[in-house]
Amino acid sequence: MWVNDTLNVNEKGHLTIGGVDCTELAKEYGTPLYVMDEDVIVQACRSYKKSFEKYYNGKGLPLFASKAFCCKEMYRILAQEGLGADVVSGGELYTALSVGFPAENLHLHGNNKKPEEVKLALQNGVGKIVIDNFPELEMVDQIAAKLNKTAHISIRVKPGVDAHTHDFIKTGKIDSKFGFALETGEAFKAVEQALLCKNLVLDELHCHIGSQILDTEPFVTTAEIMLDFIYEIQTKFNYKITQLNLGGGFGINYKQEDNRPPFDSYMEAVSAALQAKASALNIVVPYIFIEPGRSIVGESGINLYTIGAIKEIPGIRTYVSVDGSMADNIRPALYGAEYTVVNATQAANSADFKATISGKTCETDTLQENTLIAKPAVGDILAFLSTGAYTQSMASNYNRTPRPPVIMVKDGKTRVVVKGETYEDLLKLDV
Ligand code: LLP
Repeated sequence: MWVNDTLNVNEKGHLTIGGVDCTELAKEYGTPLYVMDEDVIVQACRSYKKSFEKYYNGKGLPLFASKAFCCKEMYRILAQEGLGADVVSGGELYTALSVGFPAENLHLHGNNKKPEEVKLALQNGVGKIVIDNFPELEMVDQIAAKLNKTAHISIRVKPGVDAHTHDFIKTGKIDSKFGFALETGEAFKAVEQALLCKNLVLDELHCHIGSQILDTEPFVTTAEIMLDFIYEIQTKFNYKITQLNLGGGFGINYKQEDNRPPFDSYMEAVSAALQAKASALNIVVPYIFIEPGRSIVGESGINLYTIGAIKEIPGIRTYVSVDGSMADNIRPALYGAEYTVVNATQAANSADFKATISGKTCETDTLQENTLIAKPAVGDILAFLSTGAYTQSMASNYNRTPRPPVIMVKDGKTRVVVKGETYEDLLKLDV
């Protein structure tokens, strides 16, 4: 009935998540509220791990893309499930290390890493530094030398694959700020230089073609291109690269019609392609990393809001104003992102009322335009579904809005995993 099957409707006609009534959650913790169902996160982690075992002899590791949702509890869950993580900043790295996350399962990304971030990574023994550009190659080599360490690196390659997704989150094409282009020979030069660096060991090639991709075909094409490149490197330099990171990007259901493939279909398709290609080229089947972010946490989350005002503009539209905004979810404003919206208080009623959901910041922050919900009343709780990825992690304090708490639901019980900010917190850093 809903975009994910852990959401339900109880005897009161209220929406439930992990067996907990959303209107009760709103009452207990207030709104706006981020709610995440832990079982959905755990199931996603396990389904990726299982798919490696089933299709690829377990020769690989999923790394959660921290940017999708980053807090201490998330790293605890990942560690418990045996996943690694990619981090793209000193802040994400610091958060992971703060709970004793195994550093060797952390890979550091970024198109403009600061020396202090690289230092933090090397001092703590992160598993891999993914090199994005030429100055960085030199910088990492020098820092490693100074620290008397060897840095295990990966080279980020733009494979030139055009993924069918929003322009802002396409990253594999030649006109992207990330990585070295394959077509121009830049990636080849990067490998050549990396092999000359005394303090670096080139273990891996990396690529990431985009995000919210709903078919497996671009991933298969990418995997094949990357193997061709590994083969070329082996032939020209007599150097074997044994690890391949295929990035993240697997799409989720925001709307029913997204109809995403099951998560394990990705490894099914890619494994077959990799094994066939490696055997045709007579090279080693590489150890695989993938970096799913959205697909691990996205469908686990919902955002809850309280309706404060309803304004009908006859013949034009009805604005339903909620107590959240672009401060807690920037995605509609930034990408025109679409969500399924449910009137959680009237979830048993048919969704036949056309509403434009607007936020409370001092600008036209439409959270969803002309969406169908059950007839709303002031005080009803609205739920946005599939908000677990890139909402809390991209939240801001615009209009001096305190960021909402994150509640984790498990076995009908709830716990706070990130506290909500208070007005006092907003003043904390002001001088
Ligand atoms: N690996 C790399 C190198 C990436 O750049 C990304 C996402 C991922 C993995 C994870 O991709 P995922 O599996 O989550 O699709 N803020 C945007 C998404 C930006 C994604 C950037 N890179 C959004 O809200 O849709």
